[in-house]
Amino acid sequence: MVILITGISSGFGKAMAERLSSEGHRVYGTHRKDCERIAGVHYIKAEVTDEASVQAAVQEVLDAEGRIDVFINNAGMGIGGPLEFCSLEDASRQMDVNWMGMVRFLHQVLPVMRKQGGGKIICFSSIGGLMGLPFQGLYSASKFAIEGYCEALRLETKDFGIKVVVIEPGDFATGFTAMRKSVDDAAVHAAYPKYAGSLASIEKDETTGLKPAYLAGKISKIIKKKNPAHHYVIASPLQKLAVFAKWLLPGKCFAAILSLYYKV
Ligand SMILES: NC(=O)c1ccc[n+]([C@@H]2O[C@H](COP(=O)([O-])OP(=O)(O)OC[C@H]3O[C@@H](n4cnc5c(N)ncnc54)[C@H](OP(=O)(O)O)[C@@H]3O)[C@@H](O)[C@H]2O)c1
Repeated sequence: MVILITGISSGFGKAMAERLSSEGHRVYGTHRKDCERIAGVHYIKAEVTDEASVQAAVQEVLDAEGRIDVFINNAGMGIGGPLEFCSLEDASRQMDVNWMGMVRFLHQVLPVMRKQGGGKIICFSSIGGLMGLPFQGLYSASKFAIEGYCEALRLETKDFGIKVVVIEPGDFATGFTAMRKSVDDAAVHAAYPKYAGSLASIEKDETTGLKPAYLAGKISKIIKKKNPAHHYVIASPLQKLAVFAKWLLPGKCFAAILSLYYKV
């Protein structure tokens, strides 16, 4: 299969590129920073906030292969902090990278898949796309946007043989924690005294989280399925339980559990 993955310089993207290429797929991946190269993987420089760059990246795959069987929208980052103190630029940047970045790629990929008679679109949301995480509100909003967009897209494209899958990872040890931009000054901590402890607990969960190779193994199985599920929560048992609890429990009860867990 011809597979295009965004953001393969580290974390999930790197692990998926490694795994899928080793299985014989023709893997193309985007990156911005210089990074260690995986033999057999085709690297394309692209910035997801730049439409021309995205268009050129997709064209490079089409020039080489003439088709895209699987598109994996993985590139993303997080901006953390109390929402009151997150600037409008932060809000806009968070959506521009995580949500608009995906939209820009899909604008290029969708006509290709529709004309070739099918394909799989795999978009990375998060458990934070299923529940609003305290002090990660901008990030959660960007992932909720991905959830809503993909739900509509799935219905619109089902007659074209296009399968839309959303991945909701829990905490994994990737470059994500170090890349997170966190609002951080004395006034913020004075106004929101629980912020520092909550962020520390989130970062601890991430850095001690699952390994990206585990997720790459799951993705390898998903792309082989003729009829994959709409959603895959790939997470620890406790985090899977949290997703189930959100469906099951009254809102106030679930919010009380989240407050305790995130120390807010
Ligand atoms: N790690 C977790 O616990 C976790 C949990 C749930 C969901 N996720 C999601 O999983 C996806 C992958 O994250 P990760 O954990 O693997 O983090 P990561 O190791 O930091 O990798 C993120 C990738 O996205 C790329 N990227 C970021 N901003 C970009 C931009 N503006 N233009 C182009 N590429 C950009 C990075 O490319 P460069 O470094 O080359 O710039 C990098 O390759 C993200 O969508 C994230 O939200 C992660």
